[in-house]
Amino acid sequence: MSSNRPSPPQHVAIIMDGNGRWAKARGLPRLRGHQVGAESVRAILLACRKVGVKYLTLYAFSSENWVRPRPEVTGLMSLLRKFLREQAEELHRHKVRLRVIGRMRDLPLPVRRELHRVIEETAHYTDGHLVLALSYGGRQEITDAVKAIAAKVKAGDLDPRRITEATIAQHLYLPDVPDPDFMIRTSGELRISNFLLWQLSYAELYVTPVMWPDFREPQFLEALEAYHARHRRFGDIK
Ligand code: FPP
Repeated sequence: MSSNRPSPPQHVAIIMDGNGRWAKARGLPRLRGHQVGAESVRAILLACRKVGVKYLTLYAFSSENWVRPRPEVTGLMSLLRKFLREQAEELHRHKVRLRVIGRMRDLPLPVRRELHRVIEETAHYTDGHLVLALSYGGRQEITDAVKAIAAKVKAGDLDPRRITEATIAQHLYLPDVPDPDFMIRTSGELRISNFLLWQLSYAELYVTPVMWPDFREPQFLEALEAYHARHRRFGDIK
């Protein structure tokens, strides 16, 4: 790429969709789609480190996903544990801090244990940030923020007249993480699906028909090109 390449988005958020359809199209079980999807997670994390995207947030399991057939939910949870066991070393190598948004208490204990371990071990890194949205819902996040604010008002610690947008933002799950500049959704669906409802207010949106298991570095770089093209247009007077 040319040396006058514009700076990459600071924060990319991704709705990793299409694992099931990818598997179905190949006559494979859905879980196989998720397994290959986990390899895409690794590839995109590395691509982010390579091009200088500092924050990557991945929608790995929504608060609505619990209604899926039990074997699929169990399969996804073991896949997550496996990913954490196998990728922890990679996170250390690239100095990436792991964090979670969502209702972590809903997750099975062995997954929570593994998550807490990696979260603690990587807490001191500042080069890169991987945020996994797990049992996450944007409306739930805003609801939790409202509850926390209401409790402060009730305790007399906060004057309701002083509530601003910043107050809401400060009570979201990770208030120190900047809002995403760029949101990618794979598999062609034109929906936000309860993902980062507050934080995506000003994000550029990009939807690709590519299924998540096929979304790797070349597809990611193509998405970034589209992001840069929009920014170049944005700076133009035409
Ligand atoms: C959506 O595809 C994907 C998910 C619900 C799970 C995403 C999980 C992974 C990519 C693998 C594990 C995650 C990590 C972080 C290791 P879908 O099943 O809804 O696809 P469909 O719409 O084609 O059925």
